[in-house]
Amino acid sequence: MQRLSNLAQLAHWQAQVAHGAQPIAFVPTMGNLHAGHLHLVAQAQAISPAPLILVSIFVNPLQFNDAADLARYPRTLDDDLARLREAGIDAVFMPPVDVLLPDGEHGVRIDPGPLAQDWEGAARPGHFAGMATIVAKLFHLIRPQFALFGEKDFQQLAIVQAMVHDLNFPVDILAVPTQRAPDGLALSSRNRFLSDAERATAPHLYAQLRQAAGALIAQQSVEAVLHKARAELAAAGFVVDYFALCDAKSLQPITRLSPNSVLLAAAQLGAVRLIDNLRIRS
Ligand code: PAF
Repeated sequence: MQRLSNLAQLAHWQAQVAHGAQPIAFVPTMGNLHAGHLHLVAQAQAISPAPLILVSIFVNPLQFNDAADLARYPRTLDDDLARLREAGIDAVFMPPVDVLLPDGEHGVRIDPGPLAQDWEGAARPGHFAGMATIVAKLFHLIRPQFALFGEKDFQQLAIVQAMVHDLNFPVDILAVPTQRAPDGLALSSRNRFLSDAERATAPHLYAQLRQAAGALIAQQSVEAVLHKARAELAAAGFVVDYFALCDAKSLQPITRLSPNSVLLAAAQLGAVRLIDNLRIRS
């Protein structure tokens, strides 16, 4: 596994591998790798014919609107590198902040457009502009044929897909289903901040998504279903930010189930903000 820490090393690796003309499959991460990330790697390794696999580790300051959140983001580089080596990837790109952001945080940003206005975009102003900016930059530098993103961050995935479409990036975005603990909790780097009691409560979020999806498919009123889910989450100890039924493409709220719907949810449990979603294809 090649460890690439600056642009010259990345360019050198690209020049070396260009001889084989193998495509690159790219898995962007912010490190603190868990089974969800390794599943993205495994999905990249399942592409045929086999591409080279490059994983990036970069805790992107542009996408944190809260300095405390950035400071406490878990950094576990040694463990991450051991896991990636074991997974058998070809290269890891792990630039320090000043390599990707030599002018600090004051440079050009990608405007992620209307998909970024609501939900996580409303809760975390500037988050998606920062995310899209760094993802665009990584796409330019790495020039992958494929890039893999988890469906857990549904709005992020929608924005990356729209950016690639609207700005004609020559990369195929592969959406990978959310990986879950056996009790249903979506895997996330933030789960480690849950206390034991909160960890026991956390699976209620996905349970409510499933229950709501079942009720909607059974044609219960959208308003009543969403209201009940929010109330049951609040009773379990969550502070619900949103629990909404949306069109899966526009991410706009809908009042009737459509053939391409998604339930989007975010709720605070103690100090941890949990997000999850469930597609409903009827
Ligand atoms: O999902 C993440 O970990 C980040 O938003 C990403 C895609 C690596 C961009 O910094």
